[in-house]
Amino acid sequence: MLFDSYSSSALQLANRIAMAPMTRCRADHRDAVPNAMIAEYYRQRASAGLIISEGVPISDRARGYLNTPALWNEAQAAGWKPVTDAVHAAGGKMFAQIWHCGRVSHAALHSDGSAPAGASNKPVATQTMIPGLDGRPVPVDCGQPQALSLQEIRGVVGEFAHAAKLAMQAGFDGVEIHGANGYLLDQFRCPAVNDRNDAYGGSLANRYRLLLEVVDAVAAEVAPERIAVRQSPYGVANGMVADPEPLVTYPWLARELDRRGIGFLHIYCQSTDWIHDATHSMMPALRDAFHGALIACGGFKTAAASEAILARGHADLIAFGKPFIANPDLVERLRRDAPLNKWDAATFYAPGEKGYTDYPTL
Ligand SMILES: Cc1cc2nc3c(=O)[nH]c(=O)nc-3n(C[C@H](O)[C@H](O)[C@H](O)COP(=O)(O)O)c2cc1C
Repeated sequence: MLFDSYSSSALQLANRIAMAPMTRCRADHRDAVPNAMIAEYYRQRASAGLIISEGVPISDRARGYLNTPALWNEAQAAGWKPVTDAVHAAGGKMFAQIWHCGRVSHAALHSDGSAPAGASNKPVATQTMIPGLDGRPVPVDCGQPQALSLQEIRGVVGEFAHAAKLAMQAGFDGVEIHGANGYLLDQFRCPAVNDRNDAYGGSLANRYRLLLEVVDAVAAEVAPERIAVRQSPYGVANGMVADPEPLVTYPWLARELDRRGIGFLHIYCQSTDWIHDATHSMMPALRDAFHGALIACGGFKTAAASEAILARGHADLIAFGKPFIANPDLVERLRRDAPLNKWDAATFYAPGEKGYTDYPTL
């Protein structure tokens, strides 16, 4: 099943294995244009049925880390074209993960020195890197965010739509809206962060209003069947507090996405336990609510574990993260049940080819 092709109304995928979105920080921060090394990295991994790109900031202020390749101008779109061409030539499909980091950021990452954007003024107790005087990354606490005004919220919606338009121009097969892991859209969802008393705070519908406005604006640029939305139920990354009512919250969103004909709902299980538990209620509840493709991610390492969740009908595609970093030929290795290369966490975000394009194939 894992190695069978998958057809949705818009896309034919060679298999049910997806490469999870992973930030690798290999671009030059100044222009954030993807380079030849980035194209080679994705080309090597194009046997995945679907590659979801690393998080791609939709504006200068959306950036939260150094050296992330972006998608807010024509030069960046032109830089992505050789990437998508390389993946297509190798038989793969690729979505761009469009991303706003929100408060997980620092003014020094923004060319105009603007404060990080927030759902609220509440800062996050986590660190990022900024450029040091000699150009080397320096770790710092994330900066004091400034709650977005209503006008700025409209701007963010427009930036997501613009990035989606550029993504299609750059040859991507679709886009994934990054609504997970404590970044801007997740900050709006999280009642412990979002203390707004306008239309974007309070009730569940209000806290998801921005995400759904982004979905609608993106759907004006990209066919809904080519849109994925990523969520991380129970996730506590980047200062999130576990949702008080996850079995209400996430199925509610799934129904809203379903109503809009969205193609993919990508679920990341950070703690890596519940998604593998056949008795847990979350995936069945999402399955009931959402009729597009459900992608499950988090802690998958073997074909057998992947087949189990596909066989239960709790997911349609399985996304692999770290195993894909270390194994460009992961699909073949899973097929043969061959040993996997170990990933080197020290090179996840380091510059250069080491730990990026130099992992061996079988
Ligand atoms: C180096 C690294 C970078 C990541 N960057 C992103 C990202 O840009 N966007 C995102 O949604 N998730 C990101 N993640 C999370 C992965 O997509 C994935 O959900 C996580 O690694 C769990 O899957 P795994 O157990 O197969 O690695 C990142 C993970 C790693 C290890």
